Amino acid sequence: MIKKCLFPAAGYGTRFLPATKATPKEMLPVLTKPLIQYGVEEAISAGCDTMAIVTGRGKRAIEDHFDISYELEHQIRNTPKEYFLHEIRSVINSCQFTYTRQNEMKGLGHAILTGEALIGNEPFAVILADDLCDNGDGESVLKQMVEVYERYSCSVVALQEVPKEETSKYGIIEGKLIDQSDDIYRVSSMVEKPDMDEAPSNLAIIGRYILDPEIFDAIRETKPGRGGEIQITDALMELAKKGRVIGYKFKGKRFDCGSVEGFVEATNWFYEKSAK
Ligand code: G1P
Repeated sequence: MIKKCLFPAAGYGTRFLPATKATPKEMLPVLTKPLIQYGVEEAISAGCDTMAIVTGRGKRAIEDHFDISYELEHQIRNTPKEYFLHEIRSVINSCQFTYTRQNEMKGLGHAILTGEALIGNEPFAVILADDLCDNGDGESVLKQMVEVYERYSCSVVALQEVPKEETSKYGIIEGKLIDQSDDIYRVSSMVEKPDMDEAPSNLAIIGRYILDPEIFDAIRETKPGRGGEIQITDALMELAKKGRVIGYKFKGKRFDCGSVEGFVEATNWFYEKSAK
């Protein structure tokens, strides 16, 4: 039912300078795989067949990564090294990639609205590639969310409990637990990056969303908010007022690969996993 997954990927990645000076932050590798490939694999596991990537200047490497490199294919054909291309070949064969450019950095809401041309009038997923999620052999986080969407037919945000001191790094929700065994909330309010004493809860939105196409009109109506940017949290708040946003505390781990600490943690986690 959810066929398209949007990846906002136009940001500068300033926290990773100088590595991100000429390399998109989405291409930074955890072990041998760039961050965005983990996201694309997660979207495929959730049943998506179209990746809608919102890029910007200096992001060509993303398009090249999800394309065939004829020179490389030619060089390593019938050698033992060919094995290293199996995984990315299978990704490329499992879905199609569409791209558009966000030419001004006006926030996550604006990035998602820029992707409207690739999505059209259907519900879709959003993955922020620097939130790297892993649920071992269980269902991927996005797959779990698609199942929640199928039950409620409205927008779904992924939630994680965070320490009170960290609320100012996230969108924070206020909501009512409506299904205790599945950790599902009906969201009544949400606020972008509130200070600890203004946060309505410690339930933070992390970078996985299923959005109903009604979000596009909501974003168009949204004024710049926190940081002068058009925030997806503010647009979703309008849908939450109508009871049209569900929060889901997902099963699995999430690494904030937008920070050096989170990136190192993810690298160690996946390294240990690969050594098993
Ligand atoms: C964005 C969203 C925020 C969300 C976060 C998850 O913030 O605006 O609501 O909690 O992603 O990673 P960013 O981290 O891009 O500043």
